[in-house]
Amino acid sequence: MKITVIGAGNVGATTAQRLAEKEYGDIVLIDIVEGLPQGKGLDLMEAGPIYNYDCKIIGTNSYEETEDSDLVIITSGLPRKPGMSRDDLVKVNTEIVKSVVGQAVQKSPDTILIVVSNPLDVMTYVTYKVSKFPRERVIGMAGILDTSRLRTFVAMELGVSLENIHAFVLGGHGDTMVPLARYTTVAGIPVTELLPKDKLDAIIKRTRDGGAEIVGLLKTGSAFYAPAASIVEMVDTIVKDKKKILPCTVLCKGEYGLNDIFIGVPVKLGKNGAEQIIEIKLNQEETEALKKSAETVRGLCTGICL
Ligand code: NAI
Ligand code: 2OP
Repeated sequence: MKITVIGAGNVGATTAQRLAEKEYGDIVLIDIVEGLPQGKGLDLMEAGPIYNYDCKIIGTNSYEETEDSDLVIITSGLPRKPGMSRDDLVKVNTEIVKSVVGQAVQKSPDTILIVVSNPLDVMTYVTYKVSKFPRERVIGMAGILDTSRLRTFVAMELGVSLENIHAFVLGGHGDTMVPLARYTTVAGIPVTELLPKDKLDAIIKRTRDGGAEIVGLLKTGSAFYAPAASIVEMVDTIVKDKKKILPCTVLCKGEYGLNDIFIGVPVKLGKNGAEQIIEIKLNQEETEALKKSAETVRGLCTGICL
């Protein structure tokens, strides 16, 4: 197994670290800044004897070394600063993502692409267009992160184990995301039976603002530990062909009544990538919210030059 991580910044380097610890295979860490991926790659290698992982971690500025990657994870791009929305990053990150995807797919035409750069849904669309890959092999990471935040806040409110909470956050990775209270359970019990509406509404709002909350605290960048963990969950499911159902951003072709749009929906992940979109029953309010979120993403996609 060979996994390339593009972007050796906070998300990319933390992802490389977690992947090394899991020993899925060799890792190539690539960045445009000279010395940065080489330094972080070597540092990670030197942690191997202590952590007992035995894989090669190559830091590089050249796509030659990424040849024949099984998975390519795209984290290159600017993160937001306090006061910015993810959508403010569209122009600059489109150019970065276009450039890195073009080079990566030349070297790894059969790879699966996992997109992380923001604004996530738009960058996944850009990746799909530039790579010309089938939709199964272009998958955006955001829903797992947003869902993990929702799960965390529910567990904190109820004072129960994080492991007891299951949830789904669908839609775009932005202000219009769709956290589904009806599909959130605590040891199988619907959360709506355990928390009053005002508490649930506050948790949903905190989930929607979850990225901004971290940006506001850090001041110099955005979240990376939970994002890296979310990426690794996708990698784990694909590498082990687990067929886990996870909220991921994929191209809808009629599913949920949505056409030709990248949006977060429940997806069965396996060795072939996004193997199936699972259509869960949504009520009218949830359907409307998902549609509104998709229209926001579509608006951003139509404004970009490819
Ligand atoms: P960062 O600034 O720490 O790292 C970004 C890296 O990309 C830098 O090292 C930079 O040199 C590199 N880069 C820029 N242009 C490049 C190019 N052409 N080729 C190769 N590398 C290039 O940022 P961080 O925190 O790692 O975030 C990365 C991206 O991921 C941001 O756009 C951020 O908004 C997004 N993000 C998305 C999440 C999601 O849920 N989808 C979660 C967290 C971050
Ligand atoms: C987040 O939600 C930055 O999109 C990233 O933390």
